[in-house]
Amino acid sequence: MSRVPQHGLPMTLSVGEVARRSGVAVSTLHFYETKGLIRSERTVGNQRRYARAVLRRVSFIRVAQRVGISLADIAAALATLPVTAAPGREDWARLSAAWRAELDERIAQLKKLRDALDDCIGCGCLSIDRCRLRNPNDRLGDDGAGPQRLLVKK
Ligand code: FES
Repeated sequence: MSRVPQHGLPMTLSVGEVARRSGVAVSTLHFYETKGLIRSERTVGNQRRYARAVLRRVSFIRVAQRVGISLADIAAALATLPVTAAPGREDWARLSAAWRAELDERIAQLKKLRDALDDCIGCGCLSIDRCRLRNPNDRLGDDGAGPQRLLVKK
């Protein structure tokens, strides 16, 4: 049972309480903890207890994951905050602005992939010479077939 101060809200939360309030499975919370994204203290009976700020940290992690940010990048972002602090509005604005630029870049890459796939639909050649999806980095492909750097140009 959590300690309850005079204002009626528990100062710390058990892992079950965090799971219930955040909607995140206990196993996921344990995983986040092994990755250093959240942190708990241990009671005398060796049970995990989380500061209330963990709820906002978990929300932060979930939103970031929803927009495709890797756990490593989320961990790096959270590492800029005090260990048990919840990200505030200013923290969120700063970190999410950086992620927006990454999201724009990923969208641009996905559009290029979609356009390349449009060329492939109905084709099926999977040719290393012609297919942009099969050989996306072939910058020398326009110069002709074969090892362009080794061929003597006339
Ligand atoms: S499968 Fe033919 S161009 Fe990609």
